[in-house]
Amino acid sequence: MILDGKAVSNKILEHLKLKIQEFNIKAHLVVILVGDDPASQIYVRNKKLAAEKIGIRSTVIKYKSAITEAELLDKIEQLNHDANVTGILVQLPLPEHIDKNKVAQAISPKKDVDGFSPENVGKLAMGLEPYFYPATPQGIIMLLDEYDIPIQGADALVIGRSNIVGRPMAQMLLRRNATVTMAHSYTKDLDSKIKTADIVISAVGKKIVRCKMVNKNSVIVDVGIFRDSNGKLTGDVDFEMLSSSVKYITPVPGGVGPMTIASLMYNASKVYH
Ligand code: GUN
Repeated sequence: MILDGKAVSNKILEHLKLKIQEFNIKAHLVVILVGDDPASQIYVRNKKLAAEKIGIRSTVIKYKSAITEAELLDKIEQLNHDANVTGILVQLPLPEHIDKNKVAQAISPKKDVDGFSPENVGKLAMGLEPYFYPATPQGIIMLLDEYDIPIQGADALVIGRSNIVGRPMAQMLLRRNATVTMAHSYTKDLDSKIKTADIVISAVGKKIVRCKMVNKNSVIVDVGIFRDSNGKLTGDVDFEMLSSSVKYITPVPGGVGPMTIASLMYNASKVYH
């Protein structure tokens, strides 16, 4: 069965729109885009459109890649103190001369809708409640919950250990009492780990989950999105070969991507004072 991220995302966005109206929530998301990475431009545009659709004010600030780290940090500091701004997001990747960790440290944890600041990451790792959970892992949990897929006690395999997806994903699954394995480029015998896992979450950016590696009860979540040699958008998972032989699987596109947007909008609609 296909986990329809697009449909679930639309449902969540509709619900958020009503909530924002009902409670007269005055949210204002500022998205900072540095440089001219084509994928980032599309992501930022989609975030802005989603925000406007549900009644969240949004401002995109664009900088040339020549902006200095100090200038960017100054801008963040100014936004931290601006009472009219409730959420700040700096689109990644950043140019090499800007340290993304310094940027994450600069954003006020109460406006850090990406959940990347050390306070929010630390709280998550300590099993405490962060102000915001990172959008992609939170969106994946929302998707699993929507389909009543049990997480507690499940053997969950997370492939990839990025700060944006893999690490927070593992923490969030652990909070929900899954038994979590983290796999990465040094992991041995990945095939058998994929085969025995109840839930596989792949966030690698390469075709890695292929035919015959799965079992009929597997739940496969594909976070990867890239273009194959024919220019077609694809994910980490061989969807054509696997979709009929597993219990649940996310398509690419139309799975995790839309859920990330819905989850980010959930964060952006939370206002702390
Ligand atoms: N680039 C890829 N994913 C993300 C994300 O979740 N947040 C930000 N800010 N940039 C990204």
